[in-house]
Amino acid sequence: MSESGASKLAIANVADPMSVIVFGSINMDLVARTPRIPAAGETLIGHSFATVPGGKGANQAVAVARLGVPTQMVGRVGNDLFGQDLLKALQDSGVGCDRLTLDPSTHSGVAVITVDDAGENNIVIIPGANGRVDQTDLESLKQVLPTAKILMLQLEIPLPMVVAAAQAAKANGVTVILDPAPARSDLPDELYPLVDIITPNQIETEQLVGFPVTDADSANRAAAILHQRGIPTVITKLGQQGAYCITPAASFHIPIFPVKAIDTVAAGDCFNGGLAAGLAVGLPLRQATTQAAAAAALSVTRPGAQSSLPTQAELTAFLAHHSAASEEAGE
Ligand code: RIB
Repeated sequence: MSESGASKLAIANVADPMSVIVFGSINMDLVARTPRIPAAGETLIGHSFATVPGGKGANQAVAVARLGVPTQMVGRVGNDLFGQDLLKALQDSGVGCDRLTLDPSTHSGVAVITVDDAGENNIVIIPGANGRVDQTDLESLKQVLPTAKILMLQLEIPLPMVVAAAQAAKANGVTVILDPAPARSDLPDELYPLVDIITPNQIETEQLVGFPVTDADSANRAAAILHQRGIPTVITKLGQQGAYCITPAASFHIPIFPVKAIDTVAAGDCFNGGLAAGLAVGLPLRQATTQAAAAAALSVTRPGAQSSLPTQAELTAFLAHHSAASEEAGE
């Protein structure tokens, strides 16, 4: 037992030299499929219900691991049935879990999700064990950071832990990718210069910069603000409008891969996983971002969070299919 009364799960796997570490949340998603998102005060009869492993941190870890890159998860689950299932889901996808803490003082994180017939969703998170991530987990992270290439962070664990993890990563020369989700406008100034790549979606970008980002011009203006705050690479994920990747030296746009979306839960996580996996194996930024967009496109064609994340073989086949289709169309 650690100081906080939590125990480490003794599962094998030490981070490899080019590995990705995710320090973040692990949730069980309670998913209701409904014809549409209900209005306030409305009761709707839904189509179906499922429990699916999720959590932005765990989703990103699974996304990277399924793409064949050694991945380790640092975070917390409760000592309950959801916790056991969440651990197993991570292990089954090949994510290293020896730095996962089992916290007997609370329940595992849960997310209550509604997905409508158009594939859109809304999500309420009850952090549970994710909200108890503390110094003990940070120390555990610090032990493996020197062996990592990339640290992936999100905002579903306490913010001071996110900042401290980014500081530790910087001290070890590890690239920090921050997914500023869920959206918030109060990120501390000290966090920005610790981040190498930030990947906000439309809502998150607006929260960070204070105006809506809808096109290349507004994406450039938002990126300029984030550069000024200290982040060199800004990738804005604009859903149907694709992604804008903007650094002080260069910028490019990656259009979406056209697919029929049935469920967008974890699409952003899948994008980040594709990006990190690409960068971890040495792909240039443009190719890694293209891989990210392709992985995210594949994920929206399937239901659920971790259940929707593609393997390396699936992604390779998808990219080959799309490149053949573009050639045929003379693009
Ligand atoms: O990004 C999708 C994820 O957000 C879901 O899996 C849910 O758990 C919430 O964390």
